[in-house]
Amino acid sequence: MSTTVMQPVRRPTIRQTECFIDGQWTSSQSGKTFETIHPATEETIAQVAEGDQADVELAVRAARKALESGPWSRMDARDRGRLMMKLADLIEHEADELAALETLDNGKPIRDARNADVPLTIDCLRYYAGFADKIHGQTIPIRGNYFCYTRREPVGVVGQIIPWNFPMLMVAWKWGPALAAGCTVVMKPAEQTPLTCLRLARLAQKAGIPDGVINVVPGFGPTAGAAIVKHPGVDKVAFTGEYLTAQTIMKDAAPTLKRLTFELGGKSPNIITADADLDAAAAGAHFGLYFNQGQCCCAGSRVFVEESVHARFIEKLASMNKTRRVGDPFNPETEQGPQVDRAQFDKIMKYIELGKQAGATCVTGGTRVGERGYFVAPTLFDNVSDEMPIAQDEIFGPVMSVLKFKDLDELVARANNTIFGLAAAVWTRDVSKAHYLAKRLRAGTVWINCYDVFDAAAPFGGFKMSGMGRELGEEGLRPYLENKTVTVALG
Ligand code: NAI
Ligand code: MG
Repeated sequence: MSTTVMQPVRRPTIRQTECFIDGQWTSSQSGKTFETIHPATEETIAQVAEGDQADVELAVRAARKALESGPWSRMDARDRGRLMMKLADLIEHEADELAALETLDNGKPIRDARNADVPLTIDCLRYYAGFADKIHGQTIPIRGNYFCYTRREPVGVVGQIIPWNFPMLMVAWKWGPALAAGCTVVMKPAEQTPLTCLRLARLAQKAGIPDGVINVVPGFGPTAGAAIVKHPGVDKVAFTGEYLTAQTIMKDAAPTLKRLTFELGGKSPNIITADADLDAAAAGAHFGLYFNQGQCCCAGSRVFVEESVHARFIEKLASMNKTRRVGDPFNPETEQGPQVDRAQFDKIMKYIELGKQAGATCVTGGTRVGERGYFVAPTLFDNVSDEMPIAQDEIFGPVMSVLKFKDLDELVARANNTIFGLAAAVWTRDVSKAHYLAKRLRAGTVWINCYDVFDAAAPFGGFKMSGMGRELGEEGLRPYLENKTVTVALG
């Protein structure tokens, strides 16, 4: 990430903690609240309305009304785009405050929130704003004396359930295509990180997006989340999170046959060949795994290193880990903050133990940092073999597994030997090898001599159990549209 000198950080003010339904800020129907914490100190930062089925009911009703009879349903597509641009401008205007709010709720370093989360959020909304008036059908020369054309209409009310690792950015990935397509939204942010989503809802209101178009129901998965998935008034669910949750969502959505898109986890291979620029590859492997505390669906958590350069590569990785700055996420120098909550921290520590027990070599880290907050030292395991749990399961923490390889075709089989298929990367100076591996790797994204390069215009999503459908780019609009074929007899 950038190393430019940063402005000092002002602690954000927490303004929105209630449900946002039909343009109104309200307590949950049950009156219940839940706490959200700052993971660096474990202190409670706010009590947030705990929505459940009753609140989802109201939110779906509002979203249906906005879809079917409100100003949104009559608005010109170009004006929808204009409102989305306005929202992006308002986010830009509050960039520092939003970054600080993200750091407070999620624990990510302020430099990442400022340099990645906020600008990518703005860029995604602007990208999809430009699409609003460029969604159109075709005329089709069918047999006979007919005029046949297609219309691309909004899929309807969409339920959007998002995780805590990029709370604000996930809002943009979900609202962007939904609003461009003319859908209306019932969103449930993750229970760990509801605050920036609620703030963005406030900004959407300020931008003039009509009441009921965006509704936010904070709360928990099995209550608020499941209520969205089961509601017959919801036409489509877009979910990002764990594949086990997606399995539950699929079952819950079956009775109403909802359209579903999933962005799930991964165990992405990052392949370092002997002919690579090893310094760039080591920096890329480090960034590809430790960025965002390792809490990335596409984290390069299986680093395959060609045997002849393995020892040198481990040295480079280890030295970067030793100087990585772990600590207070509000310090602009900090590179790594705490994990998001105790459950994630415990899961990571459990996998570190499993790695040690399985006989992998713990080269750096392997411990927590400090006694308060959910900090985990950047951990590097060498001599990992394919069947170890640390090489199979998504850990979602700062734990890298290094595996050795000799033969390229054997490597491909091993790299693909996982239930996941979200991302992969290859580091090589050999163009043919790069494209050969890009073709053979079963993953939705392949990076060559880079990692974690995201752009609103480039589709992203998983093969196999890493997902269904794609987000971003023109592909990302499709799941928000229904095709209608109209055939008119001529004379
Ligand atoms: P999760 O999948 O349980 O949570 C994601 C979202 O789904 C949250 O908003 C949650 O409230 C909601 N949810 C949970 N159960 C639901 C249900 N039955 N119906 C509807 N919505 C439901 O993920 P969690 O528990 O936060 O993390 C567990 C693991 O999942 C992590 O350790 C990581 O391995 C993986 N994960 C992957 C993410 C990704 O970006 N692919 C993001 C978050 C977690
Ligand atoms: Mg869960």
